[in-house]
Amino acid sequence: MRSMLLTWGDESYWAHENLADSLQLGSPPAFQLQSGGVPYFDWLQQPGNEGRSQAFHRAMAEAARALMNAASLEDYPWHMHAAATHTVADVGGGLGSWLAALLEHEPGLRGALVDLPSVVAGAEELWRRERPQLLGRTSFVGADFFSDLLPPADVYFLRFILHDWPDAEATAILRAVRRAVRPGSSAVLLVQDIVMPALQPGVLFTTLDLQMLAIGGGKERTRQEWEALLAAAGFRLARVHRLRALPSLLEAHPA
Ligand SMILES: C[S@@+](CC[C@H](N)C(=O)[O-])C[C@H]1O[C@@H](n2cnc3c(N)ncnc32)[C@H](O)[C@@H]1O
Repeated sequence: MRSMLLTWGDESYWAHENLADSLQLGSPPAFQLQSGGVPYFDWLQQPGNEGRSQAFHRAMAEAARALMNAASLEDYPWHMHAAATHTVADVGGGLGSWLAALLEHEPGLRGALVDLPSVVAGAEELWRRERPQLLGRTSFVGADFFSDLLPPADVYFLRFILHDWPDAEATAILRAVRRAVRPGSSAVLLVQDIVMPALQPGVLFTTLDLQMLAIGGGKERTRQEWEALLAAAGFRLARVHRLRALPSLLEAHPA
């Protein structure tokens, strides 16, 4: 809880302060009106913001452990990938809290933790201390999903990545995943994110939607919007797995 409070009680509040101004046509996201134009994930990497970056990534890991990991492991048939010793790439996986839980749950799987180089370096250090038993089945890949090649994998998992970004950037991330899929392979894309009800989404989903808008110009998406976004990057939505957690798991295949 501590890191969640530090992150959401601090820079998230500044961002919301500027939300109304950011609604002017052509304005950058609200957060950038406060950060001198620096996008959130670049700002987290700036010298002097190490403590904030640490709090953010710990907050994501805490939220995952408390609210999501168990449901996303129990409510999707991961064992079907383990049977073929597949590699699961957790793209934008932060400190790897979910990937570690998956590898503990499915000893037949291998993992690739992909995130910005400084985040992955911190994650690897953490795993060496706390999860040495999983290092043999994991690779740590420092990569920028806007400019670098992503590693080969059988399953690409993206949780709470695409809702951070507007459609153009979200499509670019999905295209990077599509490029990494080997031709003719039966790779699966799993996106764990909110599927916003098209009518009367309610206070919780609307609050999250505004939070994404304030921080990076992102948004929560309806099923139809997900379908369109995936199609624009060369994927076909096959199924939405409703989980016991808030976000659903969207399963897509190369079109
Ligand atoms: C909202 S967090 C989600 C973390 C994790 N997937 C989870 O569910 O807890 C977004 C993640 O995207 C990563 N990220 C942001 N920009 C990136 C980029 N250009 N390339 C790779 N990863 C990036 C951040 O470092 C962060 O770990």
